[in-house]
Amino acid sequence: MCGIVAYIGPKDATPFLLEGLARLEYRGYDSAGVAVAGRTGGIKVRKVKGRVADLAAAVPARFKGSTGIGHTRWATHGVPSDANAHPHLDNAERIAVVHNGIIENADELRAKLAADGAVFRSETDTEVLGHLIAAHAAEGVELEEAVRAALGKVVGTYGIAVLDAEQPDRIVVARNGSPIVLGIGEKEMFVASDVSALVRYTRQVVHLEDGELATVRADGFRTFTEDARTTHRQPSTVDWEIDSYDTGGYEHFLLKEIHEQPGSVERTLGGRLDERFATAHLGGLNLDARELREIRRVKILGCGSAYYAGEMGAQLIEELARIPAHSEPASEFRYRNPVIEADTLYIAVSQSGETYDTLAAVQEVKRKGGRVLGVVNTVGSAIARECDGGIYLHAGPEISVASTKAFTSTVVAFALIALHFGRIHDLSPADGRRIVSALKALPDQIREVLAQSDAIAGLAAEYAGSEGMMFIGRVRGYPVAREGAQKLKEISYVHAEAYPASELKHGPLALISPELPTVALVPDDELLDKNLTTLGEIKARSGRVLAVAHRRPEAKLADHCILVPKSEPELDPLLLNIPLQLLAYHAAVALGRDVDKPRNLAKSVTVE
Ligand code: AGP
Repeated sequence: MCGIVAYIGPKDATPFLLEGLARLEYRGYDSAGVAVAGRTGGIKVRKVKGRVADLAAAVPARFKGSTGIGHTRWATHGVPSDANAHPHLDNAERIAVVHNGIIENADELRAKLAADGAVFRSETDTEVLGHLIAAHAAEGVELEEAVRAALGKVVGTYGIAVLDAEQPDRIVVARNGSPIVLGIGEKEMFVASDVSALVRYTRQVVHLEDGELATVRADGFRTFTEDARTTHRQPSTVDWEIDSYDTGGYEHFLLKEIHEQPGSVERTLGGRLDERFATAHLGGLNLDARELREIRRVKILGCGSAYYAGEMGAQLIEELARIPAHSEPASEFRYRNPVIEADTLYIAVSQSGETYDTLAAVQEVKRKGGRVLGVVNTVGSAIARECDGGIYLHAGPEISVASTKAFTSTVVAFALIALHFGRIHDLSPADGRRIVSALKALPDQIREVLAQSDAIAGLAAEYAGSEGMMFIGRVRGYPVAREGAQKLKEISYVHAEAYPASELKHGPLALISPELPTVALVPDDELLDKNLTTLGEIKARSGRVLAVAHRRPEAKLADHCILVPKSEPELDPLLLNIPLQLLAYHAAVALGRDVDKPRNLAKSVTVE
C-alpha cells in the first residue's frame, strides 16, 4: 500500500529518502512527502499531491538533515492532496509521523484530541498519531516511551516511523500488521516498509514482528515489545539481486517481469523435481506422506490474480491427485464464518505476503485450528510467517503492480504440489514422469511465446480501441480467461469480462457484436470440438475472435490466432496465459497508460 523510508546517520538524509521513495512508489503513488531534523533544529517538511518526481522538484537544495522520514501514499482516509500527504505533524511541529495501515478508532481519538486543543489540518487517520504522540512527549520523556504510550490507545494496523525535533538522534518505528524493515549500515541506519528501498545501501536487515517497536540510532538499534520488554533480533541477509529493482533496459518493469519468466520458472522448479520417483520434493510443507494421505479436501485462498492462480492450482490438484480442491477469494472467506474441517488443507497464496485480506483469512483458519500452507513469493513476509509451512516461489521481486511472473510461478508451485500429492495417492509413475518432463520443458516453451511479442503488439494495437473484450475458456481454460481479463482491465482500463465458454449461450452471447471482440482459449485437448463450436456461435453473431490456440482454427472461426506450444493438458493453462500478459501490456502501451502504476491501484493491499 503506502511506502515508508527513514534514515539516520552522518550524511544528509534527503537524497536517500527521495531515492527510497522512488523505489517504493509502486506501493502507492498519489502523494508523497519527507521530513528532516537535525543540524539547524526543528523539523522541515515538504509534501505534495502527485508523484515522487513532483516531490523531488518541490524540495529545495537547503532541505537537509541527518535524520529523516518519508512516505508515498495510496489514499484511504481523505482524497490525495498536499494536506493529506504524510508526514503529519502535531501543532507545535515537534513530532512528525509517517504511517501505513488504518487507525480504526481515529474518529474517537480525533474528538478527544480536538477537545484538548489539537487543531487538525488533514482528513487522515494518521494525523491523530502525531497529536497523540506529542501529547505523551512531555519534558524528560524518551520518544520511544511517548510512542509506546500513544500506540497503547490505538486500535488498528500500522507501520510507522516517528521523528522528534527535540530528540533528532533517533527515529522510533513500530509495526502492527504493516511491514517495517531496518537496514543496518556503517554508522548509519535505514528503515523502509520494503527491502527494495534498502538493497542499494545494505543487505543486512531486520524485519520487525507485529507488536514490535524499535529505536533506531546512527550506530544501531534496540527492539522491544509494546509492553517494553526488550527483544533480540538477529539481522538476515537479503539475497535478491540489486538489478531486480531496475527496469534493466526494458521500457517498463511489467515487460521486464514478463520476459523474466523463463528464469523465474526455473527458480521455482529448482531442486524440487525428483526424476527417480517421478515426483516433487517439497520439504517446506512440513507434512509427511502419512499426514498428506489424511487430507480429504484442499481449499486455496488468495486475492485477485493470486485467487485466479489458486483456481488453476485447484484444477491441477483435482486432476493429478484426485483430491477435491477449490479456490476462494480470501477477502470473502474471512467474512463468512467459514467451516474449518480437520481433514481440509488450506493453502494461502500471495506474491507480497502482505495482503491484509489473505493474512486475515490465514489467521481465521488458524484460530479455528486449521492447518495452512503458504505459496508466497516474499521471504519472511507476514503471511509466510503465519503459515505452518509452504513453498517460496523464488520468482524475485515483482515491482509492477500487475502480477505476471509471480502468477506463473504460483501455478508452477501448484503443479509441484499436485504432482507430490498425486504420487502419494494414485498418480502412476508414467503420469508422474509425463508431468516432470513437461515442467522441465516450460522455460523454453515460455521463451517461444515471448518471441512473439512484436506480433502480439500488432494485435493489441488492433483490438485496444474496442469498447470492451470478452475472454472465454472451458474448464482448464476458464481461470486463464479470468486472469487474462483481469490483466487487461487492470493496466489498459479496457472493460473485460471472463466467462466459461460453456456459459456463453446462457446469457452473455447477447453482448456479442463487432465492437466486443472475444479472446478465446482453444487448447488442443479433449474439449477442442466444444470450443470450436462456441467460436462458430460467436462468428454467427458477427463477433470478432482472437484465438489463443495450439492449432490455428479455420479462418471462418477466428479472425486472428496466437499459437502457443503444447505442454501436457494439465499444464497447458500456464502457457496459454503468457500471450494474454503480452496482449494486456501492449494494449496498455498503445492506449498510453501508466503501465507499471495503473490508476487507483497499489501493489500490496495491506488494508481491509
Ligand atoms: C494482480 O495483477 C493484482 N495487482 C492483484 O490482483 C494482486 O494479485 C492481489 O492484490 C493479491 O496480491 P498478493 O499476491 O500480493 O497477495
